Parts: sequence; structure tokens; C-alpha cells
Amino acid sequence: MGKIKTAFLGLILLSLASVKTSAQTTPIPKLIEKNGRHALLVDGKPFLILGGQAHNSSGWPGMLPQVWQSAEAMHLNTLEIPLYWEQIEPQPGKFDFSVLDTLLAQSRQHHVRLVLLWFGTWKNGSNHYMPEWMKRDAAKYPNITGKTGKEIDSPSPHAKATLDADIKAFAAVMRYLKQADPQHTVIMVQVENEPGSWDTVRDYSAKAQKFFEANVPAELLKSDLLKSLNIQPGVKGSWQNVFGERADEYFQAWSIARFIDQVAAAGKAEYPLPLYVNVALRDPLTNPPATHYESGGATDNVIPIWKVAAPHIDLLAPDIYLDGSERVQKVIDLYTRPDNALFVPEVGFTTENARYFYDVLAHGGIGFSPFGIDANGEAHTNEQMAERLAPYAQEYAMATPMMPELAQWAFDGKIKAVVEHEDHAAQAIKLGAWDAIITFGTGASNNLKNNPLPVGKAIIVTLSENKFLVIGSHCHLTFKPTGGNAGKPWQYLKVEEGSYINGEFKPLRILNGDETDWGGPRIGSQTMVLQISLVAR
Ligand code: DGJ
Repeated sequence: MGKIKTAFLGLILLSLASVKTSAQTTPIPKLIEKNGRHALLVDGKPFLILGGQAHNSSGWPGMLPQVWQSAEAMHLNTLEIPLYWEQIEPQPGKFDFSVLDTLLAQSRQHHVRLVLLWFGTWKNGSNHYMPEWMKRDAAKYPNITGKTGKEIDSPSPHAKATLDADIKAFAAVMRYLKQADPQHTVIMVQVENEPGSWDTVRDYSAKAQKFFEANVPAELLKSDLLKSLNIQPGVKGSWQNVFGERADEYFQAWSIARFIDQVAAAGKAEYPLPLYVNVALRDPLTNPPATHYESGGATDNVIPIWKVAAPHIDLLAPDIYLDGSERVQKVIDLYTRPDNALFVPEVGFTTENARYFYDVLAHGGIGFSPFGIDANGEAHTNEQMAERLAPYAQEYAMATPMMPELAQWAFDGKIKAVVEHEDHAAQAIKLGAWDAIITFGTGASNNLKNNPLPVGKAIIVTLSENKFLVIGSHCHLTFKPTGGNAGKPWQYLKVEEGSYINGEFKPLRILNGDETDWGGPRIGSQTMVLQISLVAR
């Protein structure tokens, strides 16, 4: 063999080896837990999903240019986008992954990770994304039956043929991903979309009724679980007997969660990415009956049932479309549990909802994502689009260079936050030797103007006893020494505005004079990152 040929062959072997090595050395994304707190590891390191979800019908190649335009303008690092069963499996057992290939290739070009949303048996409680060949065969792939015998627009969790078909399709997706995505562009997969049923609390078909009248499965009779559902341990028998007035809903939750767990297990056996289920919420404050929301989904009252029924689902994720900070903060509390990492895969795309990103960080959440980022086929000008995206874009622009630090601080429980409530009242954060008092509004503190919408927010990370990192917008900040220094005079040693880059704070300027007098640092409508040191005198 000539010298040139040998060198050429060597080069090929070298590049093949390096492809193999990089594929082998990139660890698969996974969720970890420490002291009841969670992190999503991507490439082996804590990762924060600065997310955005595309509209339901935007996961088609022809729609992607608009999606990428928004993704870029928003500075997101992760796109949530549907994968449609009707597209993947147009004929029984014949799979077409061309759209998935396009998604993978374009995400890599845009340096964005993906969370895939498996629009399978359930989409918002209905079967609308089943392939045509399933929709045409209602006997084989049935919907559920309401209390009065009427068919409900919601697939039956008791249909073996549907379960088998979903298992086969989802397993095929995960098998394909395993070989098509060695670099782990896809970091997590949502199994189904807002499963449950509207218009009936459960399935009343003859088949379902038989299960309902049978004994409650032993897994649900363990005393800890019963206690978490406010049921006296020791009770046995039918669903009605054990769960009384909540029996219909709990039966529906169990049935759907068991179905989805089997789909998830089949997918995980192919390729064990983190999997989650998103939830159409109920009012978290008033304990309404299940006739008032989508029944059977992982609403806050049935989280314990879902945890037992669906062990292959890593987390249950609230879709937040509720009004009012009290409700939203309650939901964030309810889905932050030692057995559940907090992830908000959908939040209504309003200006004021961007502030809950800070609450998610303070709860050690792994990600946040407003719903409906793209123009959805409408002709928006770039300016209109930029204006719509701005409340989220400015937070993600701030967070991008310091994502590794934010993810680690969230995991370590080091982030504290306040978000403005509807009454605009000031709030305090306890920081050991200091209390921070945050007032919401813009302008000087002696001429403070209320924010027209409750958009104010602040995060504080304690760097050392007297040194803090503060991030926020639409607020004022002041401090008070506590403990041994309580009541003493104090002053700012230094207030620096800057940004975190490569793990270090890089100051842009020192804020002083008008920028810190008159009631402490003011943060206007643009998100600021400040490093503040204080001294008690
Ligand atoms: C919640 C669902 O999960 C999304 O797919 C979408 O339908 C929104 N609701 C509504 O805009």
C-alpha cells in the first residue's frame, strides 16, 4: 500500500475511533436525587431546561423554520415538540421516522436539546393522535363509556389492543432514538399528553365495571399510601368500599397510570431516557370533585396513586394554566417532593407567568417552559414576535451563560426567590446574617410606581455571610442586619452589575450614587445580575 493510501486509511480509522469514543463517553441523560432534591444530568452535569414548547401542530418540517426563529429569539436551550403517533405509524407496524430525523438534525444545527412529547393514546384526554387505522376500528380500540351509557371522547385504559399498539409504537420510537441519537440531543420524553378524561370521572363500560367491583389491588392497600389519601389503613374490598366518594376518580387514575406505566416500561427497556407525564391540573386550594377537572390524570390528590401505579415514570409534571400567584405557588409546592423532581413543561404564555421561573429555581426545579412559542402559521413581524417572547427571552438570556451554576445551586438548595403577588406587597428573604426586603415597582423608592402587572421577581444566592448574588427585575432591594448585628447601622460595601460567564462573575460596572441611594439598588424592566457585599458598622 502506498504512503498516501496508508495515511488516508489511518485518518479514517482515527475519525471512526473518535466518533465511537464520543458516542460512548457521552452519558445518557438521567435524573438523580440527593437529600430529597433532584437534578437532571445531561452530559453528566446538572442541566437546567430553559425550555419552550411548540404549538400542537408545529412539529412538521414545513413549520420548523418558524419554530426555530422563536427558539433562537427566546434563547432557549431545550425545545419541547410533539411526536405524532399518526405520523410515525401510518400503517400498522410500518414506522416512518423521517420527521424525527429532521427534528434531530435541525436541533443539532441550532444547538438546542429536545424533549419529545409522545402524542399517543391520550392527547388532552382524547384519542385524537391515534393513527387512522385505529380510529376506524372503534370496536378494537374503544373509547370509554360515561355514566349514562354515552360514548366519551376519551380512549379506554382497559383496551388490551390499544395498550399493545401503544407499547409497540413507543418501543419502536425509543429503539430508533437509541441508534439515531448517540449524542443525546433528546434529553427526556413525555409519555402521552395530559392523560385523563373530561366529561366523565371514569369508564362505566361493562368491562370497567367488573374491575371496579373487584377488590382494590394490594399495592394500593399499604398503610402509608392509604394514610396519604386520608383513608384509614386496614380497609379492604371493592373500590367503592375502600375509597368511598373518591372511588371513581381513584379507579380512573389507577387504570390510566397502569396503562401508561406499561408503555413507559417498554420504551425504557429499549432506551432508558428520563420519562414523565404532564398533568392538567385541578384547583389546588379547594379540593373540588373530579367532575370539575380532567379525571384520572396525576392531579395533586392522586400523586401517591400514580407513584405506585407507574414506577417507570420518573416524574409528574404540572401544566400551569391557573390564575393567581397563590394557586400557582401551591402547585409548585405540591409537585416538589422527595419522590418527584419539579419540572414545569407548560405554563401559559403571559407576560406575568415568566416570574414563576424564579420560583421553580428556588424549589430546585429541573426546568421551565412556556407553551406555544412559535407563530403557529400566523404572519407575525419579527418585532411582534420579539415583543411576545421578551419576558421569557430576557430571563433565558440572563440564565444562558450561568446555566451550569444555576442548575447546581438549584440542586444544592441555594436559591431563594420572591415573586410579586397581585397585592404588590413587599416581601422578605431570610439570608442568615441579613434579611433582604424586596419592594416591587419601578422608579426611585421615594417615587415608586407599582408595576401594572405583577411581574416583579428576585432571586438571591448567598455567596458568603455578607455577600450575595441577586438576579431580578421590576423591584427594589434593601437589607437589614439580623442576629448579633440587629438594629446596627450598615451600608453597601460594593454593588456590582455584571454577568456570570464560565463560572465567574464578570462586572460591567459598580453601581453607586443615584443607582443605590434612595432605598437600595433598583432593578428596572431589564433583568439584572448583581453581586452585593454588605457591612454592618
Ligand atoms: C395543554 C396541552 O398539554 C397542550 O398540548 C395544549 O393543548 C395546551 N393545553 C392548550 O393550549
